[in-house]
Amino acid sequence: MRVSLSNARPEQVSCDALAVLLDEGNLAGALGELDRALEGWVGEAMRLSGFEAQRDRVLWLFTHGKIPSPRVVLVGMGSPGDGYARAEALRRAAAVAVREARAQRVRRLGVWVPQLPPQALGAVVEGLYLGSYRYEAYKTFEEPQLDGVQILGGTDPERRRALRRGQLLAEATCFARDLVNAPPNEVTPLALARIARQIARERGLEARVYGPAQLRRMGAGAILAVGRGSRQPPQLIVLEYRPPRARRTVVIAGKGVTFDAGGLDLKTAEGMETMKSDCAGAAAVLATMRVLPDLRVPHRVVGIVGAVENLLGESAMKPGDIVRAMNGKTIEITNTDAEGRVVLADALSYAARYRPDAIVDLATLTGSAIVALGYYAAAILGNDRALIRELIRAGEAAGERLWELPLYEEFREAVRSEVADLRNSAGRYGGAQKGAAFIAEFVAGSPWAHLDIAGVAFLDKSEGQAPHLPKGATGFGVRTLLNWLAPPEEA
Ligand code: BES
Ligand code: MN
Ligand code: ZN
Repeated sequence: MRVSLSNARPEQVSCDALAVLLDEGNLAGALGELDRALEGWVGEAMRLSGFEAQRDRVLWLFTHGKIPSPRVVLVGMGSPGDGYARAEALRRAAAVAVREARAQRVRRLGVWVPQLPPQALGAVVEGLYLGSYRYEAYKTFEEPQLDGVQILGGTDPERRRALRRGQLLAEATCFARDLVNAPPNEVTPLALARIARQIARERGLEARVYGPAQLRRMGAGAILAVGRGSRQPPQLIVLEYRPPRARRTVVIAGKGVTFDAGGLDLKTAEGMETMKSDCAGAAAVLATMRVLPDLRVPHRVVGIVGAVENLLGESAMKPGDIVRAMNGKTIEITNTDAEGRVVLADALSYAARYRPDAIVDLATLTGSAIVALGYYAAAILGNDRALIRELIRAGEAAGERLWELPLYEEFREAVRSEVADLRNSAGRYGGAQKGAAFIAEFVAGSPWAHLDIAGVAFLDKSEGQAPHLPKGATGFGVRTLLNWLAPPEEA
């Protein structure tokens, strides 16, 4: 699908269908010339169908030769107000427009948002791409496609910049979605390593990949322990982006459990169903690294992925095992299904060696994060107020909610072990906080924030989906990270 800008007027443009995104209230006023060209039929159709641009509502009209486009679809945005809420309403309505258009076999769609300011165009572009996303790598038949979308309203440089940025952010998000939606027999730890090397080649990044032999030499006993239940060798993947005259050094790290069966503490069939999504943190990191050069991010960014399968077998780690992480700390495995934090123990020990200005990790870490916040926000925890605030703001700009949970001293006490330095699980209450408290032991005092994306990374239940967040992987975190590393106001 190609998205372009156009100077054409809505009543003059020639597409298979024209989508008009409307705020609730003052509808006739907003339509202007288009309403006159259609000789009042728009108002009549609205009255007949009770369409007042309520959120997600659509109204299709046939234009009978009165304008060049044979069909018009009005899409409601509700009354979102200003700022971030309006940007999210634009994403959502743009997604509704492309999905409607595709269902109606439209190939060329025009999109018009009356009075759209240029800096809001990016949200429309994101919505178009995020809403048209489908994972179809394994579909053997062709689904109807939308060929092109023209956004009306002008082609000035500010709009062109907003278009390009929206495209980069959305494409990166969809790259992450593909990695998570792909089946776990395809996306193995070795496959993630191969993809990371390919990204490095294509984008001029540096790549280093550590397999089991090197991990042993490095003392990375934690990720190795998780990997022992699988034939697939674990991989610690490091990508580095180094712009000239870098401002800060930032590490982004992702949990890359390509399948989480739970290990010997085996999950139920139902619990395991969506566990190919357990590499969503890693996918967000790789997708983000991939577009840093395009966005001219001014910081040195190191992306680290701990890639491993959590399966079970005669060599698998057992409850009671004690393993040693790369920073020397010992971990008592009290539950093999709390494997994410064990993987991150080594990944973040490695991250801390850079003495970075910030570490941000993303992980589908706990069911508790879902219990706390549902499918509607990621939990954020960390040791640095300013960093947490920055990330929450970047998330708001992306329409990705981050809600802070407290990292009390008591949670850090809860993950201490009687026989080792730490234990990897500690009772069910406050689980997201205990997970974060465990991870905190490995950042060596670096400013650090942890995003528990268990609820928001993969939507396969009846809940949580939205027009721009279809079933399956969401790519959550990519746009937050990119807004944080390359703020829109500086672009
Ligand atoms: N990958 C899961 C967390 C998860 C659950 C993500 C549901 C997405 C949806 C993680 O490895 C896990 O199993 N966590 C356990 C930890 C517990 C054993 C301390 C959990 O949350 O139940
Ligand atoms: Mn698990
Ligand atoms: Zn897991």
